[in-house]
Amino acid sequence: MAPGLTEAPTSTSVDEPLTSKLIKRQKNEDGSPLYPDYMPFYDPLEKVEDIGEFEHFDAGHRADPKLPNLLANATKVADLSPHVGTEIEGVQLSRLSEAGLDELALLTAKRGALVFRNQDFSDIGFKAQKKIVGHFGPLHIHGWAPHPAAGSEAHMIIYDHKEDLRVRRSWKGRSPVQWHTDQSPEPQPPGTTFICMLESPASAGGDTLVSSSVAAFNALSPRFRKRLEGLTAIHSNNDGVSQELKNGDGAVMRRAHLVQEHPVVILHPVTKEKALYVNPVYTKRIVGFDQEESDYLLGFLFDHIAKRQDLQCRVRYETGTVLVWDQRVTNHSQTLDYPAGDRRHAFRLTPLANKPIPSLVEEDDGECAEDFARVSLGLC
Ligand SMILES: [Fe+2]
Repeated sequence: MAPGLTEAPTSTSVDEPLTSKLIKRQKNEDGSPLYPDYMPFYDPLEKVEDIGEFEHFDAGHRADPKLPNLLANATKVADLSPHVGTEIEGVQLSRLSEAGLDELALLTAKRGALVFRNQDFSDIGFKAQKKIVGHFGPLHIHGWAPHPAAGSEAHMIIYDHKEDLRVRRSWKGRSPVQWHTDQSPEPQPPGTTFICMLESPASAGGDTLVSSSVAAFNALSPRFRKRLEGLTAIHSNNDGVSQELKNGDGAVMRRAHLVQEHPVVILHPVTKEKALYVNPVYTKRIVGFDQEESDYLLGFLFDHIAKRQDLQCRVRYETGTVLVWDQRVTNHSQTLDYPAGDRRHAFRLTPLANKPIPSLVEEDDGECAEDFARVSLGLC
C-alpha cells in the first residue's frame, strides 16, 4: 500500500456507519500535499512569447496501426463507452519507446481519450515529462494558469484546496460544468494532451467528463451536417481574461488576448474523421451569420454536445492516473462536485498541433457582397 493511503477497516459489523468502510484516496496524514514540488505559483509580472506558426507532423502518422509497441505489456484494454474513452492496464507511459508514443497518438485520436492507472509519470521529473509529451508538439504555456514554483512554465497546475480557493472562487455564480477543448483560440490549438493526477479529493469527485466530437457530428442528420461543413466560427479567450483580471493586482496575464477563426467541422489529420469543432467556452460567433442566427445555431450545437450523454464517458482519477486525450476530436469538462476545501491537485502538459483542417471549404457565391446594407455593416 502506498504511504499515506488509508484503507477501510475489515470489520463487517452491520451497525458500523458506512463512512468508516469507505475507501479513502491517498492523502498525507498531516494534511500536507502529496506533491509539494507541484504547488501552484502565480507571478503577475511574468510574460511569455507566443510560440508562433510552426509545421506540425502528427506523431500518429508514423504509427503502426497494430499498436505492437504501445500494447506490448498491456494486461487489459477496456472501452469506457462505445464512442469515447479506453482504459489500459499494464502500460507505463514513462517507458514507451518513440514508436510506442507514435502509437499512443494514433489510438488517442481513434478513441478520443485513454486512461492509464498507477503511473510513475509524476515521479520522473519535469524534464523527462516534457520530453515525453513534447513528442506530440511544442508545449503550450497558459496565459494565466499557474505553474510549479520550482520550474517549468509548460506545466499547467490545477489546484483546489482550502488554502488556495482561487479557481473555485472563479466558478462562483455559474455552473462549473463547461464543455470545451482547451485553448481553441490558439492559431494551432492543442492535440494529444496529458493530465496527471497528483492528489484527488478524499472519497470521490473531481472527475473529467469527455465527449466525442466525431460522434457528436455523426449523430446529426446528413442534411444538417452538410449545412455545417464550410462554416467557420470565431474563438476567443476574452471571458477567461476578464475572469483572471478580477484577481486585481494578483492577476497573471502572460500573453495577449487570443481571437481566431476556425472551421466548424474539422478533419483529424491522421484518422481523417470529421469532428464538430465548437465549444461553449471559446466559440463566440459563426462567421457570416447575423447575431441571432449565430446564437441560435451555436446554442443548438452546445446543447447537442452537453446533452448527448450516449456520446460521452467519465474519467475517475486516483493518484497516479494519467489521462491522455486528443483535443481535436473531443470536448471535456471538469466537475467540481467534491467538498470545498478538499484538495485536488494535477498538472497538464498541452502540446500544440495542426492548424484546424476544414472538412469542406464553402465557396463564396458573391451574394453577400451584392447586399449594400450587409456590406456597409461589415457583415460579409
Ligand atoms: Fe480543460
